[in-house]
Amino acid sequence: MEEFDIAFYWQAADYIRGIIRETPDVAVVLGSAMGPFTNKIRNTVEIDYADIPNFPVSTVAFHAGKLVFGTLGTKKVLCMSGRFHAYEGYNAVLLSMPVRVFHLLGVKQTILTNAAGAVNLSYAPGDVMIISDHIKLSSQSPMIGPNIPAFGDRFFDVSDMYTASLRKTALNCAKHSPLRFHEGVYMYFAGPQFETPAEIRMARILGADAVGMSTVPEALTAAHCGMPVLGFSVITNMAAGIVKEATLSHEEVANTMAVVNERFSDYLEEVINAI
Ligand code: HPA
Repeated sequence: MEEFDIAFYWQAADYIRGIIRETPDVAVVLGSAMGPFTNKIRNTVEIDYADIPNFPVSTVAFHAGKLVFGTLGTKKVLCMSGRFHAYEGYNAVLLSMPVRVFHLLGVKQTILTNAAGAVNLSYAPGDVMIISDHIKLSSQSPMIGPNIPAFGDRFFDVSDMYTASLRKTALNCAKHSPLRFHEGVYMYFAGPQFETPAEIRMARILGADAVGMSTVPEALTAAHCGMPVLGFSVITNMAAGIVKEATLSHEEVANTMAVVNERFSDYLEEVINAI
């Protein structure tokens, strides 16, 4: 199968490199409704996912489906506006594609962002959680199938996957932001349904602070190829069953993001300059 051959990823990387013609310092994957962050990037070049060989296309509302490359402060940034999720029906291995392509392009560190529901009762919508670790009980790893040794070993360590030094910088930058920050554990549910109240109670017992449907496949891919990673969850809602009679919806997620987008984008810009 072609996704078990490194050429599959090189074809995408070569196409992108032919257009951007530079090595990005940092890659950023934007979560739901975080697209406006790309307005901060200067001298941009945009590439539609549909034009990149072998690249999946994103099918979710509030996810644009393009790469935006350009300058942010002193850094060259490659930004994914729109990401791929397991619930869209992609084979798990395809979820490794973006980070593997970043790696082949020479990207040295990746920032993953997402919208998430709060499990921790002391969190509130609009807060930001710096991801310290994750829990994934369900669904396949993107590293299933024949290993590609050029990316990493068959069995790989994930005990420091959310790189401690990057988290320290992220916490320092948080001092200058009007947003409220936490460090916590993200629990992955493949979706597309939101979780049940019982699943959220389980998540809390297991030590999760927030839940969401993304980021973990990309973080695992980064760990496999030895790339430092920093993850942020923007809390868009309290998770299922916490607020009585509340109904979860993608609109609620997008509405909260719309309120905090500007402040979160300012923060992200500071982090990118600092790392
Ligand atoms: N659950 C899962 N994913 C999410 C949520 C949630 O409550 N909010 C935003 N993304």
